Amino acid sequence: MKPYILGIESSCDDTSAAVLCENRIVSNVIASQAVHAAYGGVVPELASRAHQQNIIPVVDMALKQAGIDKKDLSAVAFTRGPGLLGSLLVGVSFAKAFALGLKIPLIEVDHLQAHILSHFIQNEEGTRTLPQFPLLCLTVSGGHTQIVLLRDFFDMEILGKTIDDAAGETLDKAAKILGLPYPGGPVIDKLAKTGNPHALHFAEAHLPGYDFSFSGLKTSFLYTLQKLVQTDADFVAHNLNDICASIQEAVVHSLTSKLERAARDLHIKNIAVAGGVSANSALRNRLTELASKHRWTLHLPELRFTTDNAAMIAIVGYQKYLSGNFASQSDIAYTRQKNQ
Ligand code: KG4
Ligand code: ZN
Repeated sequence: MKPYILGIESSCDDTSAAVLCENRIVSNVIASQAVHAAYGGVVPELASRAHQQNIIPVVDMALKQAGIDKKDLSAVAFTRGPGLLGSLLVGVSFAKAFALGLKIPLIEVDHLQAHILSHFIQNEEGTRTLPQFPLLCLTVSGGHTQIVLLRDFFDMEILGKTIDDAAGETLDKAAKILGLPYPGGPVIDKLAKTGNPHALHFAEAHLPGYDFSFSGLKTSFLYTLQKLVQTDADFVAHNLNDICASIQEAVVHSLTSKLERAARDLHIKNIAVAGGVSANSALRNRLTELASKHRWTLHLPELRFTTDNAAMIAIVGYQKYLSGNFASQSDIAYTRQKNQ
């Protein structure tokens, strides 16, 4: 019988449960938490409370949509970290209890590995061409920005990462400065579509190697706007689309120039992008241009797998299930990234 894997994700502000049959997705339910919008960012205590309310209905719905009973499950995979501790604890405790009750294996999953390995989820129809190794993956989310080399599913090497802010965090902070709602990334993406990306210039960091830095860009953004507002109090309102397009351009340029260099240095043609910011249309367009220039085989994730979801947890669960790599009831959540 083919194994069914239940995935559970609760690391930040999305409660999600998904079922995979082998590597094929059969359900993926996500309950997002609107409560944080009023605060301009995720409020950890509110996030854990919402996870508590959502976890059972979300798992129930994922099983129903998959058309299976919990007794049909072969294993339970859960996000162990990194993330917010209170949020993680809800998913971790639920997964442990569920696996124990069903007497099936428990599998721990690293959230960042899951973003990357989401590229190996087969679609409902079984028609996706899955990536080949070696694969170079730009992982860009609200908390992380890295270039990762994958030689195999669990043979990952971080070639470069941000030394301060993450790409998503930079866009979210820029949006906050502009008085736009949280999360700012998708809002900036939308407004930037009718803006001029070269209208304003912000200072980009130039670090050696493959590391990134966005804190200087954020400061340059703030100071440039403060100066412009001094001479025209309505500058932001009158130039919002251009401002959004210009900050987005700076972030996309920083990300893609490092990725391009890493791909060239390592002679790798299989390229992927993962994480929340991989939904960004300007980033996707730039990567598509680079792919045709350098003859890359580019893997852009389906939009439903860009932000946090449990299908990506279940695909890692499936790979670990195949190799019998199971977790213990005494494994505890971790909040910061482990060395890969
Ligand atoms: O991966 P994710 O859902 O959560 C983390 O693990 O951090 O990523 C969330 C981040 C947020 O910073 C959000 O603003 C950004 O992804 N994001 C976007 C877009 N959609 C989500 N950034 C730019 N353009 C988008 N379309
Ligand atoms: Zn994430």
